[in-house]
Amino acid sequence: MTIQSFVPAFFIVALFSLGACNPDKLPVSDEVLESKAEAVAEKKVEEGKKTYESNCAGCHDSGVSGAPKPGDKEAWRERIAPGVAAMVKKSIEGYEGKSGVMPPKGGNDTLTDAEVSNAVDFMMVKLK
Ligand code: HEC
Repeated sequence: MTIQSFVPAFFIVALFSLGACNPDKLPVSDEVLESKAEAVAEKKVEEGKKTYESNCAGCHDSGVSGAPKPGDKEAWRERIAPGVAAMVKKSIEGYEGKSGVMPPKGGNDTLTDAEVSNAVDFMMVKLK
């Protein structure tokens, strides 16, 4: 293929690919995707708040034996560094840290892993 015939062919292919990215042809717009993501996130945090208030606030609101308080940026800075997933795992399994004992699922083994995870998400939202 010579360069003269390659260039127009390239433009035709490029035009077709542009057509494929046309937002009108996408199955779902970005706006819909974003509104779904937001709705799910809000629901998780709302559920997390309920779990937090009845299972975690007893220690975490007052900071009993060094329990990090939601919204206390200094208390969370180092804890959050290994990632929220690591904190969720520790909250589910329980652990003994430098300042005290975090009981598995805050001491309520009827909670599901997802409920504990949502409660941690709620605590994270308070850092905003
Ligand atoms: C009996 C008191 C108590 C209850 C109830 C409790 N916690 Fe804790 N939690 C602690 C203490 C104390 C620490 C800090 C331990 C340390 O790091 O020395 C802690 C630490 C944590 C951490 C930080 C983990 C990390 O990686 O540093 C998270 C997240 C957490 N708790 C979530 C929860 C959630 C969610 C609940 C409710 C389901 C809950 N806690 C209930 C006492 C409690």
